[in-house]
Amino acid sequence: MKALLWTGVNETSVEDVPDPGIQNPEDVVLKVTRTVTCGSDLHLIGGYIPFMESGDVLGHEFVGEVVEVGPDVERHRVGDRVVVSSFIACGRCWFCRQELYSACDNGNTNPAITESLWGQAPGGCFGYSHAMGGFAGSHAQYVRVPYADVGAFAIPDGVSDERALFASDSAATGWMGADLGQVRPGDVVAVWGAGAVGQMAARASMLLGAAHVVVIDRYDYRLAATERHVGCETLNYERTDVQAELLERSGGRGPDVCIEAVGMEAHSPGPAFGYDQVKQQLRLQTDRPTAVREAVYACRKGGSVFVLGVYAGFVDKFPLGAMMNKGLTVRGSQMHGQRYIPMLLERMARDELVTEHLATHTMPLTDGPRGYKMFKNKEDGNLRSVFLPNG
Ligand SMILES: NC(=O)c1ccc[n+]([C@@H]2O[C@H](COP(=O)([O-])OP(=O)(O)OC[C@H]3O[C@@H](n4cnc5c(N)ncnc54)[C@H](O)[C@@H]3O)[C@@H](O)[C@H]2O)c1
Ligand SMILES: [Zn+2]
Ligand SMILES: [Zn+2]
Repeated sequence: MKALLWTGVNETSVEDVPDPGIQNPEDVVLKVTRTVTCGSDLHLIGGYIPFMESGDVLGHEFVGEVVEVGPDVERHRVGDRVVVSSFIACGRCWFCRQELYSACDNGNTNPAITESLWGQAPGGCFGYSHAMGGFAGSHAQYVRVPYADVGAFAIPDGVSDERALFASDSAATGWMGADLGQVRPGDVVAVWGAGAVGQMAARASMLLGAAHVVVIDRYDYRLAATERHVGCETLNYERTDVQAELLERSGGRGPDVCIEAVGMEAHSPGPAFGYDQVKQQLRLQTDRPTAVREAVYACRKGGSVFVLGVYAGFVDKFPLGAMMNKGLTVRGSQMHGQRYIPMLLERMARDELVTEHLATHTMPLTDGPRGYKMFKNKEDGNLRSVFLPNG
């Protein structure tokens, strides 16, 4: 089959690789109908998460048709149309029983790397390096889905593949940020990053009853899409004093909940950007925490900061003093897709959650390297590139 492979820092190519098959009784194999780029892939492709091997298949957000079913799978049949959570979880360990699916003790078949990095290993993820289990990703004609009864969900008849695709990761991640960030009715919520994840966090905040939701970025086309399709307020940080504006829009208190949907490659117009970039390049810090710092400063006293953006290791100049003295709750997580996908599919069926506008560019998988380039460089109004591995 054809698959999009990582072949070196900033290099990908589409090549022939062996088809996957059932390895464990709880697996299914899917024929991938749509698979989409994610900001997380950029961190991998750019070499910021140094646990990829040349030839690894990328991709973790996808929908497909079940073509093979392991003997212990109960919920899926050949021919079913399903969407799959990007994180792989067993559904029965202690963490899965608390619905902390991305912390699953069994999903990551290669826990040694992250145990030494972080003390404990999170679950596994499709196409997300050997630190996350070394699973082959979804940018391929076929993909093996472990624990299919737990991680794959039938798409309701009224929901198109185009829409359901985003339940796999970005909509679930955004919902988690608003839910675990504790957005309450009447809240003011600020979201850093107008990519798919930030937009979905904003939409979730609105559906959870926030009175004002403000999304911050520097790309006008992303902010315009956010206003039009999500229906919230926006700020361009290159033209606005974000801290002052957020105070103004929250009655002088600061936002109740600040959601960071930017990640380790954050940009900043200030002098800290050069400082962070030099330290990151020299490997003195692994991540550029610009947006996290801004969120901690902007958040109201006693408020909550939720980090959705991916970070790998250590950061410099984290404002611990602001966090402690302002009484903030700071949390982060990889996404617990299994917890949210059924509810998201229901909301999609009711048109409360619309995601098609995120698929700005749809192309055959063979154009994948070009699709990633457009996504990385934010070319031609790109929000996400969607690949069709089987035409
Ligand atoms: N927690 C999870 O499970 C999970 C799941 C999916 C994605 N992610 C992470 O979420 C982040 C966003 O993903 P995405 O797909 O939307 O990425 P994306 O690259 O499409 O969007 C990121 C946006 O952040 C903006 N940005 C950069 N610096 C900024 C700053 N200082 N202030 C405000 N905005 C800034 C960029 O202009 C861009 O529009 C990534 O780090 C990704 O790895 C996490
Ligand atoms: Zn993702
Ligand atoms: Zn588990």
